[in-house]
Amino acid sequence: MKTALITGVTGQDGSYLSEFLLEKGYDVHGIIRRSSVDFRERIAHLEGKPNFHLHYADMGDSMSLVKVVDKVKPDEIYNLAAQSHVQVSFDSPEFTADVDATGVLRVLEAVRACHLEKTCRIYQASTSELYGKVEEVPQNENTPFHPYSPYAVAKLYGYWIVKEYREAYDMFCCSGILFNHESERRGETFVTRKITLAAARISQGLQDCLYLGNLDSLRDWGYAKDYVECMWLILQNDKPEDFVIATGVQHSVREFTELAFRHAGIELRFEGKGINETGVCVKDVRSQKSEVGSLEGKVLVRVSPDFYRPTDVVNLWGDPTKAKARLGWNPGKTSFEELVKIMVEHDIAKVAAEGAATKVRTNLAEYLEKGIVK
Ligand code: NAP
Ligand code: GDD
Repeated sequence: MKTALITGVTGQDGSYLSEFLLEKGYDVHGIIRRSSVDFRERIAHLEGKPNFHLHYADMGDSMSLVKVVDKVKPDEIYNLAAQSHVQVSFDSPEFTADVDATGVLRVLEAVRACHLEKTCRIYQASTSELYGKVEEVPQNENTPFHPYSPYAVAKLYGYWIVKEYREAYDMFCCSGILFNHESERRGETFVTRKITLAAARISQGLQDCLYLGNLDSLRDWGYAKDYVECMWLILQNDKPEDFVIATGVQHSVREFTELAFRHAGIELRFEGKGINETGVCVKDVRSQKSEVGSLEGKVLVRVSPDFYRPTDVVNLWGDPTKAKARLGWNPGKTSFEELVKIMVEHDIAKVAAEGAATKVRTNLAEYLEKGIVK
């Protein structure tokens, strides 16, 4: 039985990766940090399973990492922990650097301190944000980096320190340069989930309008469940290498919004430009109309400058040729259309099931509308 240690186990990817590795027969250990709220929503269903273990540690605390690595003696480490929100990195750049840059170094050094550098393989959650202000479209493993946010600059350090330890100490450590991947477990302030939740709430009369930033931004969106398989494949490869993981298909935020609302029974038409652009309901085919009646003619999407970033990455499009050829990974497993459908259907059911609780949560929707929560 192989032993894996996952940092960021409570996150979107950590939860899917835990399920994937447990299914493969691994003994899975995850790192959690102390929080005033004890409910770990994404992994609650795994807690109590005999091969699933949790340990307290923090990416900002070297000694805690050394202690866990020494106790677990993992065959594989998946370093997924990060302050992963790009816009938040402009508000908390120092914290982001500590966790996303120095944190990677702490993991590598913990492995060396425990004398596991010859046996333990390490996966680093790198990102398409490294391409930032893109110098080439689409982007592959040889495309020059141009990080364009404090998050991306921190992740660039992570990428290079992994490469350095691979060359300096002959360690099996690799970066997966993953393009955006989403799911029904995506954090609620990333644009896709914000849209699918809003489409669900608006369709059930619990939210009036969705406020977004740059609608023209282009992303290569895949399904998180498919991407965690690739993390594992990268560590099963015969030599340590970095890989771009993407679908090879690109869509705009506006397209994502149109499709999400369509799945919720609402046809939108976008009118106007820039800050004055709006998404108007032109056809309301919801199966159950809420008490607010027909939405036709109503403005359901508006642009708010609160969601503009000081520098925004607007043209991410990945070329997964190497991962396909060398790892046998299938980038087309879940299409963009299927992804949006999975997320909207999940959120419609979630909003409906939460009932009264959802009404309380509309406070969050109000914050989102007003731009307080980014
Ligand atoms: P996520 O949902 O935001 O999860 C981040 C995880 O990191 C959470 O478990 C969080 O714990 C943990 N964490 C944050 N700060 C920590 C600290 N100081 N000590 C210990 N744990 C800490 O992110 P994700 O979408 O799963 O992404 C996983 C990784 O892939 C991240 O490194 C992200 O930057 C990278 N990435 C993501 C994408 C994407 O599209 N999703 C694309 C490329 C790269 P709490 O639950 O306690 O907050
Ligand atoms: N979050 C958010 N909220 N983004 C918005 C909004 C909004 O209201 N309106 C437009 N956008 C635009 C952003 O400006 C950005 O260009 C794009 O939508 C995607 O934003 P996010 O969903 O926040 O993701 P991200 O691409 O910045 O970062 C995610 O993907 C990276 C990989 O490329 C995160 O998961 C990072 O951790 C990851 O590295």
